[in-house]
Formats: sequence, C-alpha cells, structure tokens
Amino acid sequence: MAKILVTSALPYVNNVPHLGNLIGAVLSADVFARFHRSIGSNIKYVCGTDENGTTTEKTAMEQGLTPKELCDKYYQVHKKIYEWFNISFDVFGRTSTEKHNEITQSIFANLDKNGYIREEDMELMYDPEKDMFLADRFVQGTCPHCQFEQANGDQCDNCGHMLNPTELVNPVSKLSGATPVKKVSRHLFLDLPKIKPLLEEWMQTKSKVWSQNARTMTEGWLKDGLKPRCITRDLKWGVPVPKKGFENKVFYVWFDACIGYISITAKGFEDWKEWWFDPEVELYQFMGKDNIPFHTIIFPSSLLADGRNWTTLHQISSTEYLNYESGKFSKSNKIGVFGDDAINSGIKADVFRYYLLNNRPESSDTVFTWKDFQEKNNNELVANLGNLVNRTLMFIERSFEGNIPVADLNEEDKVFLKNIKGEFETVKHFLLKAELKQGLKQIMHISKLGNQYFQANEPWKLIKDDPNRARAVLFVLVALVKDLGILIQPYLPDTSKTILSYVNGNSWKWDDLGKFSVKGKISRKDVLFEKIDNKKIEELHSKYGGKQEKKGFDLLNLKVAEIVNVEKHPDAEKLYIETIDLGNEQRKIVSGLAGYYTPEELVGKKVIVVTNLEPAKLRGVVSKGMLLAVAEGDKLGVLEADAPVGTQVIIEGSTPNTNQISIKQFAAVKLVAKEDGVYFEDKHVQAGSKNITVDRGCKGKIS
Ligand code: 2FM
Ligand code: ZN
Repeated sequence: MAKILVTSALPYVNNVPHLGNLIGAVLSADVFARFHRSIGSNIKYVCGTDENGTTTEKTAMEQGLTPKELCDKYYQVHKKIYEWFNISFDVFGRTSTEKHNEITQSIFANLDKNGYIREEDMELMYDPEKDMFLADRFVQGTCPHCQFEQANGDQCDNCGHMLNPTELVNPVSKLSGATPVKKVSRHLFLDLPKIKPLLEEWMQTKSKVWSQNARTMTEGWLKDGLKPRCITRDLKWGVPVPKKGFENKVFYVWFDACIGYISITAKGFEDWKEWWFDPEVELYQFMGKDNIPFHTIIFPSSLLADGRNWTTLHQISSTEYLNYESGKFSKSNKIGVFGDDAINSGIKADVFRYYLLNNRPESSDTVFTWKDFQEKNNNELVANLGNLVNRTLMFIERSFEGNIPVADLNEEDKVFLKNIKGEFETVKHFLLKAELKQGLKQIMHISKLGNQYFQANEPWKLIKDDPNRARAVLFVLVALVKDLGILIQPYLPDTSKTILSYVNGNSWKWDDLGKFSVKGKISRKDVLFEKIDNKKIEELHSKYGGKQEKKGFDLLNLKVAEIVNVEKHPDAEKLYIETIDLGNEQRKIVSGLAGYYTPEELVGKKVIVVTNLEPAKLRGVVSKGMLLAVAEGDKLGVLEADAPVGTQVIIEGSTPNTNQISIKQFAAVKLVAKEDGVYFEDKHVQAGSKNITVDRGCKGKIS
C-alpha cells in the first residue's frame, strides 16, 4: 500500500493566522489527510511553526520578548486555533529545535562536501548604533533616480525603481535613525546553476502530475536561468552555520523552513526515516502560491544535491488568494477574520470549514464576505444537507417510532442508488486529485438528489396510502444519510460524527458507502445547523471584520510639543534643527523655518508635531517628525495650541496611529487652517479640548 506523506506550509510563528492562511494550507491538507485515512491509506500529516529568521527577531524586539519567548507564546496561539478548527495533524512541531538544527546542518554539510556551496563577499548596510546588519526594508534614503527623499532600500515608491540599499543617497536606518555604513560580509550561496541538471532530470519524471500553476511557474524560473542563492544571514536567531568563519551567522529562514517538514517528522516519530528515505512514499505538499518556488526549486535542489535518497515532492497543491470583503486580508493592519475571531464568533468550526472549502481559491482568487457566508450557511448547510438529515430522521421518529425501516426496493429505487454510487466515485476522483472544492460540491449535489428523492416520493402521503412503500423510501434515505455522514467526514468532521452517531455508525469509513448497514433505532438529538439571521451577520461583520485600514486623519499621530532649542543647520541656510519636548521624550526635527522665524521667536512655542513620520535625513541630519505650519503668500505661521506638552491632537472619533507613515502618506491627508481653527474635511481638529491656532493668522493648506 502506498505511503502518503502530507504536509502543509509551516506557518510563520510570529502572528495569528487568518482565514486566508488556513484555507491556503492547513485546512486543505487536513481534508486530504482525513480522506486518505478514510480510504485506509498509510498516511502521516506533518506540520508545525516556522520560527527562525529576521521577522521573529524584529517582532520579539517590538513586543519586549526574547525570540524564544515570542515563539513559545505564538506556538501555543497557533496550536489552539488549529485544534479548534479540528485540524488532524499527526504531529504539529516547530523549527526551533535541536533536531531541526541537526538535520539542517547535516544537509548543509553534504551540500558543502559535494561542492554545491559557494562563498562570496557581499556589501551590506550596517547600523552602527544597533550593531547589526540591516535587511533592505529597514534602510531609507534619497532615490538616485528621482531624488525622492524617502525611498526604501528595496524600491522607490515615487518612481518605482527597484533599488539596492547601498545605492541610496543619505541612507538612514529605520530602526535607529543612525547613518548605516557599508560593510562587507562573507556569505554562503547554494549553487543552483550547478544543481540545475539534477533538478531538470528530477522534474522530467515528477512534474507531470503537478498543478498547472506550479508547473508553469517553475518552468519559468528554470527558463530565466537559476542564480546562486544566498542561504546565510547576519542574525542571531536561527540555525547556526556549521562552518569555520561563519560562526556568527545563521541560515536564511527559507533554507531551513522546508527542512522543518523532515525535522518535525523526526522529532515526532522514531521511524521517520521510513517516511523520508523510501521511494514508495508519495509526498503531497499544500501551500499558497507564493510558496511554490521554494518547494519546487530550492527545497528539492537541497535534497537532490545532498546525495542521500530523500523523499521528494510528488504532488503540489497550491492555492491562489482568499481576499476579504472589498480588499485583502492584512496581518499588519488586522483586516479580515483571524483564527481567534472565528473561535469567539459563536459559530461552529464546521460552518467556517464549509465556507472556506466551498470557497477555496483553487484556480483563481476568491473572496470572503459575511453576506456570502450567511447565504452558504442558510441555503446550503441548513436548507440542503441539514434538511435532508433532519427530515429523514424526524420522519422515522414520527412514523416508525425511531426504528430504522427495512423493506424491498422497487426498480426506481435501484436506479436511484446506482446513480448515487456513481456519484461516490466522482467524489473520490476529485479527492484523490486534491480538487477539494469540486469534491465538496459533489457531496452537496448528492444531498440535493436525496432531497429530490424525498420530495418526489412524498412519504408523508405514502405512510397513509402505502406504508410498505413509505418504509422502502425511508430505508433508502437513511442509508443515504449514513453515506453523507461518511462522505462529509474529511470536510466537516464534527458534523460527520453527529450524523453517524444518529444512525449508530460511529466507526464507518469509505468502504461502508452504499451499504445498507444502518440498523436498530435512530438517536437524533439536535438539528445539524442553525440559520444565521441578518442581525447576527451584521454583528459579526462589525465585530470580527477587523479594524479598517487606517486612512485620512487616522493615519496621523499628532501631538503638542514645546520647542526647547533651535540651531542653524550647518549645511543648509534655510533649515533649522529644533529640539522639541513631547513630555516623555525629546526629539530633533529639521524644518525649513529659517527664512521666516528667528530662533528666539520659536523657542518656548507650543507647536503641533507629526510624531509618526519615518525618520528622514535632511542634508545629513536626521529628522524625527515634522512641525506643522501654513504658508500664505510670503508669510508662514506655525500651528500652536495652549495645551500641555504631549497632548494628543484629535478629531471626533479618531484613534491615533501607532505605526510609522511615509511623507507621501502624510501629504495625502488634507488639513486646512480656517478662520476659526483647523479642519480635516468638515471635522474640527483640536489639541485635546483646546483649539489650535495659526501664528500670524495664516490660512490655507497645512504642510
Ligand atoms: O509563507 C509562510 O507562511 C512560510 N512560513 C511557509 C514556509 S513553508 C515551508 F518552508 F516550511
Ligand atoms: Zn525614485
């Protein structure tokens, strides 16, 4: 019997997974694994958290935890969510283990020994204040192409040029505001061009059964030519590199993450080698499409070049994206429905499972909307599957005192049952190919056929006119209810358990389909599904819909600050460097007030400051924020407020933004000074309860 090894992409540990993450990997793999258990395959389903790398270090820093503490905390968060969703892992491990380090290092050692590792010097940005190398996105500076001052290390948002952080003029570290320096660091590269022949040969035999998007994407990569890929990073949190001269480095997270499938199996099962070194094992990997190249190129390349006969990818099941209402799920902005929201929603896990699987982004993006969620629950789960089960069992309770009837079937029944058997085969066909959405739709179609059979035979009339015939009809229907209980098991495990318990068949599996094995007395308790009314769905939408993306005034974090010192900028006539006091901190801000104010006029003023602007360097001096002012003709006046330093500037209903924003985002927020104060759209902007005025009576656009 074939051995089926199922994996779902290891979720990043440092956040709470949302429903898009769930359907993209773990939930899909769960259906497939459950199906294989039902047909009696020898199967293991392996998953765990992806814990190494820069994001873990950064998030830990933000939360005031060590990386280990952060991983421990979120590992539990993930575990609880997957348990609630009934994900049937055979093991759910993690990548921050000794076993993981050991296996990753052994693969690396073989790659090195076999000549597939190259060394190269790289010039990287280094933050002298934080004493660390900076990832590209943590460097900002002036774009060499368009002179935009807030270009990011990887790309300029103004002209769209892809950049290298070392190309930026006047670079600044987003972490500390310090000037990063270029520093050479020696790194290790996986020699993909050298591995290419092995990979191509492997693909010829393997890729025939892959999904179309996986094959096209991978062939595209190969056609473009593979480049050596850097597999080390200057970080502390990760798998140490076991090579002389590289003691202070760790492996890049995408080098070790996939090896997590192996190490988690190894930590969970003594016989793990029987799963990872057996050519008979079929490896099925589930993931979102952004993970494809790592599973079809990087991971197989590492395993092939390692030289041991590792089990490699057999079938890849990669989904497109699930969007949320009119936008995208977003972890950083907490938009969409997250695992913990689902747990708190008061709706059963199976309803979420149904909706997500029914709406699985199998060949194109799909959208989660609460309205559709309500409709699928009410029109499909309640009105189709729930209805068939309830009406069949209730009829047996009322007309036969709960005893399951037995009777001879007529020709029509036999034709009906023959059709249904054909439908079972179709479900199986879809499930074997991991076409999960189609499989589910097919099951619901069978349920619909059951309802039609009920309707067409009118057993409520037969019970008076032809009770024997009524018995036969219910005999067919109750067998179908049992079959649906078996079929739906991979998708809706709780519902399946309930249905099968009503007909005394708790241990039935795929082989029991089509058999008349229901005997004795039924034991129905509750209806299977409840309708969701408009009030509930509106409540869910507003409560668990996630907070809306910040826009307009909510992008800002404005505060009252006192100017305590003003100096002339050493290299720019028009610029001042002001030291401002925000109550709990002092900052330096560079602004173009020199032509309009003397330093003495400014010192002691309580002004309004944008506190959440990304630090920017102006002629070599870092500015952490911006002072608001209005220019009218040749006059310029700063915004002032007679409120304590640190007072939050607000409009009605606003919440200050705790994230940094770019100058471009700030410029899009239109603040205007009028006769009687400052406005955003038609809302009055105030410093707490105090009015904001503009020095020298200037009116107009604030910048
Ligand atoms: O995209 C992600 O969430 C990654 N953590 C997936 C890793 S898959 C595999 F490498 F483990
Ligand atoms: Zn540019």
